[in-house]
Amino acid sequence: MPTAPEDAITNGRTFAIISHPDAGKTTLTEKLLLYGGAIREAGAVKARRAQQHARSDWMEIERQRGISVTSTVLQFRYQGYRINLLDTPGHQDFSEDTYRTLLAADSVVMVLDAAKGVEEQTIKLYQVARRRQVPVFTFVNKLDRESRDPWDILEEIERILGISTFAMNWPVGMGMGFQGLFDRASREFEAFNRQNRTFDRMSLNDAPLDSHDRMQLQEDLELLEGAGEAFSQAAVTEGVLTPVYFGSAIANFGVETFLNGFLTMAPPPRPRESSAGWVAPEAPYFSGFVFKIQANMNPAHRDRVAFVRVCSGKFERNMPVAHVQSGRTIRLAQPQQFMAQDRAIIDEAFPGDVIGIHDTGLLHIGDTLSEKPDLRFVGFPRFSPEHFAEVELKYTLKHKQYQRGLDELVQEGLVQRYRPEDLGPQVFLGVVGPLQFEVLEYRLKQEYGVEVTLRPLGYRMARWVVEGPAEFELGRFDRVRTVIDDEGQRVLLLEDERSLERLLERHPSLRVAESSPLR
Ligand code: G4P
Repeated sequence: MPTAPEDAITNGRTFAIISHPDAGKTTLTEKLLLYGGAIREAGAVKARRAQQHARSDWMEIERQRGISVTSTVLQFRYQGYRINLLDTPGHQDFSEDTYRTLLAADSVVMVLDAAKGVEEQTIKLYQVARRRQVPVFTFVNKLDRESRDPWDILEEIERILGISTFAMNWPVGMGMGFQGLFDRASREFEAFNRQNRTFDRMSLNDAPLDSHDRMQLQEDLELLEGAGEAFSQAAVTEGVLTPVYFGSAIANFGVETFLNGFLTMAPPPRPRESSAGWVAPEAPYFSGFVFKIQANMNPAHRDRVAFVRVCSGKFERNMPVAHVQSGRTIRLAQPQQFMAQDRAIIDEAFPGDVIGIHDTGLLHIGDTLSEKPDLRFVGFPRFSPEHFAEVELKYTLKHKQYQRGLDELVQEGLVQRYRPEDLGPQVFLGVVGPLQFEVLEYRLKQEYGVEVTLRPLGYRMARWVVEGPAEFELGRFDRVRTVIDDEGQRVLLLEDERSLERLLERHPSLRVAESSPLR
């Protein structure tokens, strides 16, 4: 069984970028790919998006699927590192998929808009990263525009996200008065040339700063040294301290400093928890898990691709591996890897890499593929949906197609499905982002020829019952419903935190979880 060569492990970096829409994730991604030589011109990632946008009437949905085909993961090389950048759809197509992609990352880059600070979707995504205790790196973007005070941004990150910060560089001026960045590690100044949007590196003494800016910088640096958190790589690795870089993605300002710092501090592939203990990337056998399934990427021939994150050993094309959940041995004949502009068949892959595998319906999210048949990766949660609806088939004659479509889309992780506790005929669905309901309707119609009616329900969260009474007495004002999920677990659908609190007060033996492990 092949082991991964040592340098393939130490040089591997697998990370995801999280941000609120419009903070600059696409622009930063593009600049990082430019450094890696994975694309030749700035605008390529965006242009592809725009093209897909224009081509379709159902643009959001098509766009979403179009993007994820090629950019679920982008691999590029830079200064001896093999970098896998995982795309986390973050716009209106925010979904459980977005959360699950974070399970495949070893570290996270959080992009903030310097004028807006910590925004809603960043908080949600951060919380998932935090649960896994992965290192988080922050890029405060759009410094070329009027921004908030950098102290204010650091304070907000600490207060809202509860993580300590360490400023790696420090801005002088902002917006029209933005002069450049002081790099605390090299103690050099990067002066911003507004006219041609370039920068020059120089010693602080040579920096073209007026006396006011110079004094302000000195003061800020003293404050940072005195009051700020001390830098600790251990704290970064544990995810309790985030190195913060200021810059501007569009002006490519501070991006290189960020990339170099990030690659040095971010961890190589980390061990993963399995039923047989922790699996180190150095383990002498291939293993990996499915973190995303994309069905019917090409409607002409119903294909389905499972994205597998390699955890240990060396993956080789055509190698027979055990699909642990079904007990079958499969041969991975046409594994694909995804580059910025296309996908290619690959012959080998190493820990941290992501491979795409054609699948006929055998693989599910969270499944393990391994040369060692008795190993099963654990820790794949289903997250609480935030929107719920009751679904009904419009024309009952199509029941079979409806059932199949719904089964496949549930497996893919597009929606969660629940039934009433008394096992009545109703079917309830839950999603993280409301666009997923539109995607569901659209795909059922396009791919399975089935029309459904979705009746929105007023619930906003789900809690899995870990322990609790056989029956809940519900009061007149309780807006709670008990249902059973596809795994046979009891789930409470609730309108808000307050209804949960009331229920917990009334049933002291009740214990609930915010997420639930997949099978
Ligand atoms: P997202 O993927 O996080 O949603 O953000 P994206 O990169 O698409 O950027 C959102 C908008 O912010 C874009 O403008 C982009 O050009 C702009 N932007 C990104 N980085 C910077 C920066 O460092 N400084 C400034 N001033 N703007 C930045 P847009 O008008 O929506 O699109 P476009 O017409 O510029 O392409």
